[in-house]
Amino acid sequence: MQRIFIDTDPGVDDALALLLAMKSPELHVEAITTVSGNVHVEQATQNLLTILGLLDIADYPFIAKGEAKPLVKPLVKAEHVHGEDGLGNISKLLNPDGNPRYPNATCEISSMSGVDLILETVERYPNELVLVALGPLTNISKAVQKDAKLMQKLQSIVLMGGVFSEYGNVTTTAEFNVYVDPHAAHEVFNSGVPVHIAPLDVTHQVKLTGERLETEIEARNDKISSFLKDSTQACMEFYRQNVGFYGLHIHDALPIGMLTHPQFFQSVSAFVQVETEGHLTSGMTVADLRQTYHASTPNASIYTEVDAEAFLNHFFHRIFS
Ligand code: BDR
Ligand code: CA
Repeated sequence: MQRIFIDTDPGVDDALALLLAMKSPELHVEAITTVSGNVHVEQATQNLLTILGLLDIADYPFIAKGEAKPLVKPLVKAEHVHGEDGLGNISKLLNPDGNPRYPNATCEISSMSGVDLILETVERYPNELVLVALGPLTNISKAVQKDAKLMQKLQSIVLMGGVFSEYGNVTTTAEFNVYVDPHAAHEVFNSGVPVHIAPLDVTHQVKLTGERLETEIEARNDKISSFLKDSTQACMEFYRQNVGFYGLHIHDALPIGMLTHPQFFQSVSAFVQVETEGHLTSGMTVADLRQTYHASTPNASIYTEVDAEAFLNHFFHRIFS
């Protein structure tokens, strides 16, 4: 069983990734930190409690609230994609008795900072822990700034972010998580910890259509399927109007699949850098794939292909398990 630490900015697809991780017997989620990204970190932390409230579990991972703003740039959020509350506005939904339809888990939030929870967990499980990053890399870069030597005791960092051969989803050149905090991404890629990247090039291969979602949930009557239905509506409407299909990409679920089912994926090694300054290219991820003498030593593996159907079948099988 692989011990993992999740850093996240929930986010509809973050929610699906968290459910997939918590329901993957190959993984043990030791701790979770939140970060500003899709929504401000205060809301992201509330959302994490809402997501954990969907699970019938007695032992919750440790939780801490992370950084409120990127290292250098002002915060850019994505409420237009994920809904005002980041989870398709489900926080407004009430049961007939007036109680929230999706109550928060009653688990404690650590008084420690997100950065300190990362460092403490690495120290507790030296050379055993994989850090899974599903949002901007602010917390992780700050942990590297605070104790770069300790962070070398991570097994690896697996992250959703970047784009290499397609257009970005914020600008023509940048993907959201890297765009929001390019300085943090730059530090993480140069931290010396092996990095495995699920960029848009691979996450775009998995299209969860509204039709497929309906088929999966129509005969079910449980908390997870009703959450899937309610939390995805606003996002799927955004996709219909702006992306060209009714449905959504479940970006953040892919790193979880990469850990449990590597056979679904293909990857290449590369030296990856991040543009932090460019007017048109801020947040652009640049990969050197050359095998020649002047190529730099790879610092990352980039996932390039996924068996989308196998992944989606697996995803539904697991989250309903
Ligand atoms: C990434 O940006 C966020 O909006 C999603 O949660 C995902 O982590 C996709 O570019
Ligand atoms: Ca995310």
